[in-house]
Amino acid sequence: MLILDLLQTVLLWKAQLVNYLPATHPGSAVGGSECSVDSIKSLLPAGSKVLYASHYQADATFTPPPEHNAGAWRASSFVLPRSACVFQANLTLPGDTQHSVGVVLPDDWNGRFMTAGNGGFSGSVSWGSVIDAAWYGFAAISTNTGHESSGAEWAYHNEEALKNWGYRAMHNAVVNGKSLTESYYGKDISYSYYRGCSAGGKQGLKEAELEILDFDGVIVGAPAWHTSRLQLWNMIVGIWNSPADAPHHLSNEHLDILAKEVIRQCDAQDGVEDNMVMDPYACDFRPEELLCADDVTETSTCLNPQQVKTVHKLHNDWVEDGEYIFPHLTMSSEYDWRGLVAAPANLGTDYVKWMLQLGGNWTWQDWSPDLIKLSDELNPGNATADNYDLSPFYNKGGKIIHYHGWSDWSIPTGSSIYFYDQVTAALQPQGIDLDDFYRFFLVPGMGHCAGTSDLMKAPWVIAGDGQSSRLGKDGSVHSVPGYEDAQHDVVLAMMNWVENGTSPSELIATKFADDKDPRQGVYRQRPLCVHPAQAHYKGTGDVNAADSWECKKL
Ligand SMILES: *[C@@H]1O[C@H](CO)[C@@H](O)[C@H](O)[C@H]1NC(C)=O
Ligand SMILES: *[C@@H]1O[C@H](CO)[C@@H](O)[C@H](O)[C@H]1NC(C)=O
Ligand SMILES: *[C@@H]1O[C@H](CO)[C@@H](O)[C@H](O)[C@H]1NC(C)=O
Ligand SMILES: *[C@@H]1O[C@H](CO)[C@@H](O)[C@H](O)[C@H]1NC(C)=O
Repeated sequence: MLILDLLQTVLLWKAQLVNYLPATHPGSAVGGSECSVDSIKSLLPAGSKVLYASHYQADATFTPPPEHNAGAWRASSFVLPRSACVFQANLTLPGDTQHSVGVVLPDDWNGRFMTAGNGGFSGSVSWGSVIDAAWYGFAAISTNTGHESSGAEWAYHNEEALKNWGYRAMHNAVVNGKSLTESYYGKDISYSYYRGCSAGGKQGLKEAELEILDFDGVIVGAPAWHTSRLQLWNMIVGIWNSPADAPHHLSNEHLDILAKEVIRQCDAQDGVEDNMVMDPYACDFRPEELLCADDVTETSTCLNPQQVKTVHKLHNDWVEDGEYIFPHLTMSSEYDWRGLVAAPANLGTDYVKWMLQLGGNWTWQDWSPDLIKLSDELNPGNATADNYDLSPFYNKGGKIIHYHGWSDWSIPTGSSIYFYDQVTAALQPQGIDLDDFYRFFLVPGMGHCAGTSDLMKAPWVIAGDGQSSRLGKDGSVHSVPGYEDAQHDVVLAMMNWVENGTSPSELIATKFADDKDPRQGVYRQRPLCVHPAQAHYKGTGDVNAADSWECKKL
C-alpha cells in the first residue's frame, strides 16, 4: 500500500515536472562558451578575477573551496541537481573594492535568471540557494556583498564596504550576472527573478525600491528591512534578559515551559485544537499562569514575578520615552528564543562596534538609547529598505511575493506587517491596489524563514529561500517533494504570476512527517492566505488537509 502510494507520488512528480522543467538536451551543447576560467573571464568586465570554473555532472558533489568561502556558515557540500557549469569570480566595485559572486549555469537552461539573497551580515556566497535554483533550471547567482565574514569588523572606517553591503554589490552582481548568462548561452534571458529570506528579504525589497529593472519577480521572506532598528533590537532583547544570574533572567528551561504554556493558552482560541496558533495577535496570553507558588523551591518549572516582567517586555513593542522603536516577538515564537535572549547578540554588538563605528572596545554594558538616533541618522550603507513608495516597480510590471513566519523568533513578524501597511499607505492614495502586484502571506507556526517547533508541527515548506537545506539529509531535496506546482512552491507561483498573469490567491504550506526524509509523506498541509485574509477551518473534514480550510477576511 505504502509502496504503491510512493510510486504514485513519484509518477505524479514526473508528470508535474514536465510542465516546469526545461527539456534536456543530450550532450548539453551550450551557446558558444565553455566552462573554463579563461572562457568565463572573457564574459566578465575587465579587472574581474575568475577564481575557479568547473563543469559538474548531475548528482556530482560541489564543495565550495574554503579559501574563497571563508565566511560561509552553511553546509559546505552540495549535490548538483543537474549538470552545470559552476564558478566563482571577483568583480570590481568603486573605491578599489571587490565582491565575490558564485554562479551556476545549467546545461539544460530554462532561459531564466535567478538571484539569491544572503543571511546575517551577508558575508558569503549563498551556494545552497544558487544550487537549489539550478534544480528549476535557472542560471543562478549569489554575491558575498564584498566581504567574507560572519561578523562586521570589515565595516569599520570603510564607507565603500558598507555601500557594497547595503545595496551596491547586489545590483552589480545582477547586472553582470545577466550579461554573462546571455553571452554564455548566446541567448537573451526571458525572465529575471529574485529569492531571499532574512537579510536576503531586505536585499530583495531594496532592489525593488532602488533598481526596478533588475527583476520581474521578487520573492521576499522575513525581510530584515528595518536594518537600523532591527540590529539594535537583536541586542536589546538579550540585554533585557541579562545577566544570566539576575532574578529576572529566563533560562532555557523557563523558555521551554513558556513555549508550552503559550500553545496551551492560545491554541484553542482560534477555534481548532491542533497545537497551532493561527493568529498570534488574537491570543490573549497570561504568563502569570506560570507564577511559582510561595512554597516552591525548584523554580525552573515556574516563573518568579521579575521573570514574568521579562516575558511581558519580550511580548510587547520596544518603546523608548513613549516612542515606538520596534515590534515585539509573537506568541508561539518562544520555542526558539534561547539563541536570541541568552546574551546580547553579535548581530547587535558587531553592528554598534563596526557599523555605527563605536569601535572594538564598546560592550553592551555601554548601551544607551541615544544609539537609536545615531543608527537612524547613520543608516550604515543605506541598507534600510524603507522607501515604501513601490509605484515605480509596480508601474514597470514587477511582482512581489512576501512571506513571514508567524512564529519568527529572529525578526518579529510585526516588522513585515508594518512594512506592508506603510506600502499600502503610500500606494492606495495613488489608486494602486496592492494585490495587483504585491502579495503578502503570513505563515502560522513557521519560525525564521524555515522550520517549526516539535510541538506545533506547523506546515512551513513552500520552497522559500533556504528551506531546501532543511529537508532531506544531503542537500538533494528541492522544491516541495511531491507537490512541485504553483500552488505549493512559491518559485513556481511567482513564475506563473509573472509569465502567465495568474496571481497566487493562496499558497499551500506543507509539513512533512519527517523533514529529513520527505518521502515518508506529509503530516499536514494548510492554505496560506493573502494578507489580511486568514485560513479558517470549514468545520468539517480532516484539520490536517488543506481543503478543510478556506481563506476569509474577517
Ligand atoms: C575576492 O573578494 C573577497 C571579498 O569579497 C576577498 O575576501 C578575496 O580575498 C578576493 N579574492 C581574491 C583572489 O582576490
Ligand atoms: C581599545 O582601547 C585601547 C586602550 O584604550 C586602545 O589602545 C585601542 O585602540 C582601542 N581599540 C579600538 C578598536 O578602538
Ligand atoms: C537609499 O535607499 C533608498 C531606497 O531604499 C533610496 O530611495 C535612497 O535614495 C537612497 N539614499 C541614498 C542617499 O543613496
Ligand atoms: C503557464 O500556463 C501554462 C498553461 O496552464 C502552464 O503549462 C505553464 O507551466 C505556465 N507557466 C508557468 C511559468 O507557470
